[in-house]
Amino acid sequence: MKTVELGRTGEQVSQIALGCMLMGTLTDEASSVKMLDHYLDAGGNFVDTANCYAWWPSPGNTGDESEELIGRWLAHGGRRDQVFLATKCGARLSDPEEARGKTWEEVQARFEGASPDTVRRGIDDSLRRLGTDHVDLYYVHVDDRSTPLEETLSALAEIVRAGKARYVGWSNVRTWRLERIRQLCDRHGWPAPVAVQQQHSYLRRRAGLSHKSIVDDEQLDYLRTHDDLTLVAYSPILKGVYDDPEKRRNHDIMDPYQGPDAEARLAALTELAAELGVKPNQLVLAWLLHQTSPTTVPLIGPRTLDQYLAAMSALDVTLDAAHVERLDAAGAHAP
Ligand SMILES: NC(=O)c1ccc[n+]([C@@H]2O[C@H](COP(=O)([O-])OP(=O)(O)OC[C@H]3O[C@@H](n4cnc5c(N)ncnc54)[C@H](OP(=O)(O)O)[C@@H]3O)[C@@H](O)[C@H]2O)c1
Repeated sequence: MKTVELGRTGEQVSQIALGCMLMGTLTDEASSVKMLDHYLDAGGNFVDTANCYAWWPSPGNTGDESEELIGRWLAHGGRRDQVFLATKCGARLSDPEEARGKTWEEVQARFEGASPDTVRRGIDDSLRRLGTDHVDLYYVHVDDRSTPLEETLSALAEIVRAGKARYVGWSNVRTWRLERIRQLCDRHGWPAPVAVQQQHSYLRRRAGLSHKSIVDDEQLDYLRTHDDLTLVAYSPILKGVYDDPEKRRNHDIMDPYQGPDAEARLAALTELAAELGVKPNQLVLAWLLHQTSPTTVPLIGPRTLDQYLAAMSALDVTLDAAHVERLDAAGAHAP
């Protein structure tokens, strides 16, 4: 697998990142370990988790499961030095049982946030579950507007100074906040984010819809002109909706996208996928892998081994400039 430079750090991360959100809950231990081993054997190194994965699948799940599973895998496999390990803090719940059945807005209101104490305690707890003395990348999972940025950033700087995290990143963040974060880092000499983890796929969110998590044209423009930040694209196949019209009709991940632009892009995608003899999900990943400005690392989230292998097969799809241009040009609104 090819690698890309993370921001301008000199660090090489694999062009596909492996999301471990469902490992230890919806994906059992044996399948998770097979995926992780296969991914490293295929040249992958960019492993993504969080301190809240995944509390939601079933009663009794806490959010510790994914980090703990990765910890066991690292302990047994001894491959820590082959992994560029990313985790996050900020979206953990103190009482997952109390949050079950609540709306997404109600759940978000219960997130732990990014106060200095939470961030400091968060890294120590994650390191314990992961069984390692450092992570390579530590994200603020959800931008927290109720904590002064200076407080979060100085706590993150302490964590980096202590060697507990090598780099920091931000997720679910608006562009103006990213700019403010970078200015503060510059002013105080704090480590600035090298990665921004946002929801990003081939479909574009509906024109006029404001959203802190989904990349929009302004954010793309910002990232193009700030190449010290790599875009890590989560939900790159939008939960697999591209291969499955029924899922597309019913899945709430489609809510921000439905409309004429999505229809036009889906038509272009389906047509080109048929011509190339590949699946639409696979073509979306291949298209993301061909994005160079900004550099984009698709962060896949397979639940099963078959889904993992299907995602990895995107590496075998070569698109020429005309294919990329056709997909880029499709849509009902100007980019
Ligand atoms: N920063 C954040 O806020 C944030 C948010 C979400 C995720 N993430 C990270 O990003 C990673 C990926 O996100 P994601 O899980 O949303 O990505 P995704 O790959 O778009 O969605 C994963 C889901 O897509 C379906 N799927 C996967 N491969 C498929 C295939 N080949 N064919 C058909 N369906 C397929 C499965 O759905 P079924 O289970 O229905 O089969 C699977 O659960 C996560 O593991 C996590 O590390 C971060």
